[in-house]
Amino acid sequence: MVICPDHQAIARAVAEEIVDYIQGQKEKGERAVLGLATGSTPIGVYGELIAQHKMGISFSHVVTFNLDEYFPMSPQSRQSYHRYMEEHLFDHLDIPKEQIFIPRGDIAPEDVGEHCRWYEDQIKKAGGIGIQILGIGRTGHIGFNEPGSLPDTRTRSIRLDEMTRKDAGADFFGEENVPLEAVTMGVGTILGARRIILIATGEHKAHIIRRSVEGDIKPQVVASYLQQHSNAVIYVDPSASGELLSAICNHF
Ligand code: GLP
Repeated sequence: MVICPDHQAIARAVAEEIVDYIQGQKEKGERAVLGLATGSTPIGVYGELIAQHKMGISFSHVVTFNLDEYFPMSPQSRQSYHRYMEEHLFDHLDIPKEQIFIPRGDIAPEDVGEHCRWYEDQIKKAGGIGIQILGIGRTGHIGFNEPGSLPDTRTRSIRLDEMTRKDAGADFFGEENVPLEAVTMGVGTILGARRIILIATGEHKAHIIRRSVEGDIKPQVVASYLQQHSNAVIYVDPSASGELLSAICNHF
């Protein structure tokens, strides 16, 4: 757990780690494989990566896998995670299109299972995820793995929790317009990443951060599974760390 003074300080620290990894892979002549998240939380990190690219860092050897997408959802829709990623990151970097993977929300329901197996295969073929970026939902979800998700789950379709749909309501001009389902990487898929960086900022995340970090490891709080990962770090601002009881934190 690392406490940074604010969102921007977290963004800088996380982007620096990502750039070090990307550069290291380049020197070895290998691809860098990133797992990417959406929501408001990673926007600062993406801004920093874009700034690094403007200063000359190339992302042409980077392969990316996004965590999730609403279902059903057209990639052109303003609420789609496809569109979010283009606007906040991909339109500003030099990652070849064929190296960008995002679960699809625009396929027939009967094809979702096969698509999910294909997605898992692509992650394997890329050599697994090097760094996975995560936000956290107020339900404790990572990706869209809602309460009840088990640690060995793989990419699949999932029914969204009421609280998640409520939180997404503003983006959809009303909770009733939020899709009922999503396609998400599984908990096992996420835990397979060699490095995991979860970011949480704001007072509204303080309660779930405490339950995730100090509570029992259980499917009701999916982010608590990160306690079992040997190379996971959580970056928080002072507000999101506000309910922690222990002093297991490094101040940055
Ligand atoms: C959505 C995404 C999650 C994200 C969460 C938190 O549910 N599927 O990946 O972590 O929202 O969003 P925010 O970062 O806006 O708080």
